[in-house]
Amino acid sequence: MKKLTRRSFLKKAAIGGLAAAAPLKMVEVVYGQGAQEKFTFAVISDAHLTHIKGTKFVRNFDEGLERAVTEVSFMDPPPDFVVFGGDLAQLGKKEELEHGLEKLSKLSLPIKFVIGEHDFYLDMGEYWQKHIAPLNYSFDHKGVHFVVLNSILTYDSWINQFKDPMERMLGMARLDNPHGSPFIVGEEGRRWLKKDLAKLSPDTPIIVLTHSPLYKIFKPWNFWTDDAEEVQAILARFKKVTVMHGHVHQIIYNQIGNITFYAFMSTAWPWPYPPTYTQKPSNFPKITVMMNRADPFHERDGTGWSWAEVAAGRVTHHYELWENTPRTVYYDEKLGHPVDKDYQDPSKRIPPQIHY
Ligand SMILES: [Fe+2]
Ligand SMILES: [Fe+2]
Repeated sequence: MKKLTRRSFLKKAAIGGLAAAAPLKMVEVVYGQGAQEKFTFAVISDAHLTHIKGTKFVRNFDEGLERAVTEVSFMDPPPDFVVFGGDLAQLGKKEELEHGLEKLSKLSLPIKFVIGEHDFYLDMGEYWQKHIAPLNYSFDHKGVHFVVLNSILTYDSWINQFKDPMERMLGMARLDNPHGSPFIVGEEGRRWLKKDLAKLSPDTPIIVLTHSPLYKIFKPWNFWTDDAEEVQAILARFKKVTVMHGHVHQIIYNQIGNITFYAFMSTAWPWPYPPTYTQKPSNFPKITVMMNRADPFHERDGTGWSWAEVAAGRVTHHYELWENTPRTVYYDEKLGHPVDKDYQDPSKRIPPQIHY
């Protein structure tokens, strides 16, 4: 079994100014890594920049993205690249996407973009594909095969009922939405994935980046991809597969067969966990230690960003939580699933916040 010893510290850039912030220092030592070279990438997701009118945007969401960009810029050593996990815009407007691109342009790092449903359903991904990134693509990095897979499509029968693009966008934009429609990768996407992976040996570590989880957590909130099992089957022949996704706005991790799943934080707001909020049954992963609930008096609480350390094809996911204790979730080779470094022991968990 590989022994992983890591010592890292990441000082937060002081709110209110780059000038006051000391450079972030990150020291890491990894022993016994496999053939693949160890590397890191940063993750920023679900910014939901919201246009009001003219040059006005919702301040809180702007500030979330700005803070993540500042903190990623101060990572030392810098990550190899940044993943943006989707939902840059709130209602897919050109103003919102351009506003987001302008904010992300402050990063002097390559960005791998994943599209979210909030970026897609106004113009069906037209602006995104023209100016930002393809919907499906792959790249190789230091021995790992990365796949960006569009998982936020849905059935034509649902799409075709809308005459007005904004109505369609609003139809998909809500959380607790009886009129929405489950996400799918779709037949074309699955065919593309199969072809993309065809030439790879089962030993190649695979990291799939999607927006919706490639499994089924809770259908009423669309924490759900309808053809997840078919996508999982395409990934089944690989020994090391990690799926990392946005959309759920909170810490969730899971293991299904050979696939390890990690969710991204949002820079805008946290969603509740289904089991804490509803009596309806959900498939919320039993191995996830939930983070304590957001404090409505601190607008950044329950939000944040993350960075992934990849060694020997496995991901260690560091959640940088604002107004909360950072968390590290890593793949335990012995147990065969991800575990939270500090909070797996129930006695060490942070109790829920209480307000009077
Ligand atoms: Fe989102
Ligand atoms: Fe989303």
